[in-house]
Amino acid sequence: MSYVIRCFECGAKVENELLDSCPRCGGLLSVEMDLSRIRGKRPGDVLSGRMGVWRYAPFLPVDATKAISIQEGGTPLYDCRALAKEVGVERLHVKYEGANPTGSFKDRGMTLGVSKAVELGCKVVGCASTGNTSASLAAYAAKAGLGCVVLLPSGKVALGKLAQAMFFGAKVISIDGNFDEALNVVRQLAREGHLYLLNSINPFRPEGQKTVAFEIVEQLDYKLPDAIVLPVGNAANIWAVYKGLSEWKEVGWIDRVPRLIGVQASGSNPVTQAFREGKRDFVPVDHPETLATAIRIGNPASGKKALKAIYDTGGLATDVTDEEIVQAQKLLGKREGVGVEPASAAAVAGVIRLRNEGSILKGDKVVCVCTGNLLKDPDTVIKHAAKVLQAKASAEEVKRLILS
Ligand code: F0G
Repeated sequence: MSYVIRCFECGAKVENELLDSCPRCGGLLSVEMDLSRIRGKRPGDVLSGRMGVWRYAPFLPVDATKAISIQEGGTPLYDCRALAKEVGVERLHVKYEGANPTGSFKDRGMTLGVSKAVELGCKVVGCASTGNTSASLAAYAAKAGLGCVVLLPSGKVALGKLAQAMFFGAKVISIDGNFDEALNVVRQLAREGHLYLLNSINPFRPEGQKTVAFEIVEQLDYKLPDAIVLPVGNAANIWAVYKGLSEWKEVGWIDRVPRLIGVQASGSNPVTQAFREGKRDFVPVDHPETLATAIRIGNPASGKKALKAIYDTGGLATDVTDEEIVQAQKLLGKREGVGVEPASAAAVAGVIRLRNEGSILKGDKVVCVCTGNLLKDPDTVIKHAAKVLQAKASAEEVKRLILS
């Protein structure tokens, strides 16, 4: 486990592990792993233990023996045959990140980030969040015995996520503003030394999140799909997947990186707009809006990294309407018995749209990373589901309802 932190933009080496941006140019940071000791070895000689984030310890920049872990990762990869048939693709797998300890993929990054916070001697951790990051951070901070502060956009956080952050004992602060504004505030607090920032601009977070790609490769027996499709919000997860796959290519375990496809909500689509114009940077969307509140983000902190991941893999970015998201969420539930939150359903909606447009082909094998659990956002589910029927405690009356 040897690594350096480097600026993604100017390439400078950064020694201070407490930073979340380059002290020279203000750019995004990234961890560069030294994989020379792994190159040429076989996976079976390097990886050990049950499936989960820490199985991949030789690829992680944190001491695994001191991990703050709640057994994150090791999530199912569902082979969705009925859905594939309906969508019109050869194979459609869903990587079900809702099975993580707090119900989203954020736990993969938080086990790394909070372990690093402890290693660095930090006492208080914090984040801005559309919900899931705060739920996850609150749980891992509790496990580590650290103070936790979370900033949430007022009135725009799904109920399950809010309940989790409150339950795990974080100081929950509702910000009169959107996620982008909350992130600016918490970044300032981090700069002033009040807390260790655990948003995904923290370079250690994507290091944990990249393990989802490792699991997909192992679960598919090293037979790579044509595309991996992810929802894009603050835009770090698609970068994390790109980084993980690039590392396995570097050590010779895979020979290519599949196309990475990012899906945004049409009211919060700066990365998609940049992709459509062939640009490597994006223009923020001022008033992002979508029912998929997890990805209701107009100024994605890792947007440039996401665009690199997309261009380097011959992938693409697209956007879907709220209506498409709800339809895809229902379809996944109805055909496969798999419940995901709206942002996650955006990945499936993206596949449907791209199949119709001809950017995904009939013979393609695709994997959708479904990032969060259905129960995160019960309000949206209930709003769009069939109504509950009411009856007296009488078999006759219930029979009448069944038959009607
Ligand atoms: N899916 C879900 C369920 C999310 O919660 C998020 C991000 C994403 C997708 C997008 O991932 O930001 O790496 O592009 N949620 C963050 C949060 C912003 O605060 O919980 P991304």
